Amino acid sequence: MKNIIDNALEYVKGVFETDYSGHDFFHTFRVYKMATHIAIKEKANLEIVQLAALLHDVDDIKLSPETHIKKDKARSFLIANNVDETVIDTICQIIDEISYRGTDSIIPKTLEGKCVQDSDRLDAIGAIGIARAFAYGGNHNRAIYNPDVGPKLNMSAEEYNNHISTTINHFYEKLFNLKDLMNTDSAKNIAQAREMYMKDYVSEFMDEWEGIK
Ligand code: ADP
Ligand code: NI
Repeated sequence: MKNIIDNALEYVKGVFETDYSGHDFFHTFRVYKMATHIAIKEKANLEIVQLAALLHDVDDIKLSPETHIKKDKARSFLIANNVDETVIDTICQIIDEISYRGTDSIIPKTLEGKCVQDSDRLDAIGAIGIARAFAYGGNHNRAIYNPDVGPKLNMSAEEYNNHISTTINHFYEKLFNLKDLMNTDSAKNIAQAREMYMKDYVSEFMDEWEGIK
């Protein structure tokens, strides 16, 4: 008989098969692999981390607004796979705490939540993060850069969610903030290198924009 992790992998493959807005199946798969790596290092409960990582975007507010509040899709999957009610509540809480909310971002209450949040955020930075940001920008008809439109710093959750900007501004409005928001030492180390790579990238982008190089 297949185990619950295989079932979850199959389930999320179906959910994200046709998404090109930055939430494709491979994003979830990378978060699952990274969360597994961090959970082992941090000695967190592996099954809770893996299930929360695999299900973390199925009730995302942008993709599934009608199920977002109660996490109906994650909950139904877990009930169908005979997971205990208390474990289901823990996983749904981790999913609820995960997203970036500007200055209102939440520190997850559990070690397992910290591992999953870090993994999701690591996938938003570095080479993959750069690719995802421009893919999201194109998908949402955003300009790559406009020197007349500056970034808006220190936004609250409401401001951040309603803000429309350029993709280069997104680096200043979210991506460069993520390194200091990492919860675990394992993630902090990885974030350091990825942030340096992104800073080099934006610096090269600006030089080329100015025609210096
Ligand atoms: P997640 O919680 O999985 O990081 P998000 O919905 O916050 O998901 O974002 C999905 C991807 O799109 C991330 O890589 C994120 O950095 C990027 N993204 C989100 N908002 C913007 C934006 N305004 N401009 C460019 N990229 C964005
Ligand atoms: Ni995600």
